[in-house]
Amino acid sequence: MKKDWFKVWFESEYYQKVYSHRDSEDAKLLCELILKTTHLQKDAKILDAACGNGRHYINFSKAGFNVFGFDLSKNLLFEAKANSFNKKIPQNFFCSDIRFTCLKTRFDLITNLFTSFGYFDEDDENFLFIEKAFNLLNENGFYVLDYFNVEYLKNNLKLISEKKVESLHIKEERFIHENRINKKIIIVDLKNNSENENMIFYESVKLYKRDELIERISKYGFKLQFEFGNYYGEKFNLKSSERLILFFKK
Ligand SMILES: C[S@@+](CC[C@H](N)C(=O)[O-])C[C@H]1O[C@@H](n2cnc3c(N)ncnc32)[C@H](O)[C@@H]1O
Repeated sequence: MKKDWFKVWFESEYYQKVYSHRDSEDAKLLCELILKTTHLQKDAKILDAACGNGRHYINFSKAGFNVFGFDLSKNLLFEAKANSFNKKIPQNFFCSDIRFTCLKTRFDLITNLFTSFGYFDEDDENFLFIEKAFNLLNENGFYVLDYFNVEYLKNNLKLISEKKVESLHIKEERFIHENRINKKIIIVDLKNNSENENMIFYESVKLYKRDELIERISKYGFKLQFEFGNYYGEKFNLKSSERLILFFKK
């Protein structure tokens, strides 16, 4: 699997097409769950780490909060700014690699949503931001991680799936290797009917089991407060939940 796959894939114009179902409505569900669980004060400050095109950022902003967001992808940040501008929402976005983010402000809520975690080879790199997040939070602040449920993923792995989005034929091949879920994404634009090298992308995310995640994150000083198995706020179940949504408190 290609190292630094995330620098290429999230910069590509195709990422948002492949994940077009991960839209503002999908983000709204999760934001509502987060807000009704954390009961933030009206003047609370939120940081959305790896905010992508700003779909959660915009939902939090619309709810009246002071929101900041960063991402590595210039293309997605451009989208985030344009989407916020169109909705007359302040554009507090900046470009940063999650491993090297340098912030002086403190927040009441820090989010890491829709599997924006586990991209790097080393555990220390993957957990670096979470460790830093502890000091970036005000007392009683929350850190929310929305990741997949490894047990469910392993037992329900669809090796191959295909779909059509606009003129694109998208084939996704998945396999688990060396404790990572890997995906090869092959895109053919039926308009030009050409399959060339630029239309193949990769994803590779390290698999962390629930207990392992909680144990490691708790070592930084966080206390687990709530956990859910989907964006509707259903209880987490190791066998049947697709997502693992963890709420930690400082
Ligand atoms: C699966 S997407 C989720 C985006 C957003 N949270 C959402 O739900 O739409 C993962 C995001 O992580 C960002 N990302 C990947 N590697 C990163 C890095 N090293 N530092 C900061 N952001 C990164 C990508 O650009 C992408 O926006």
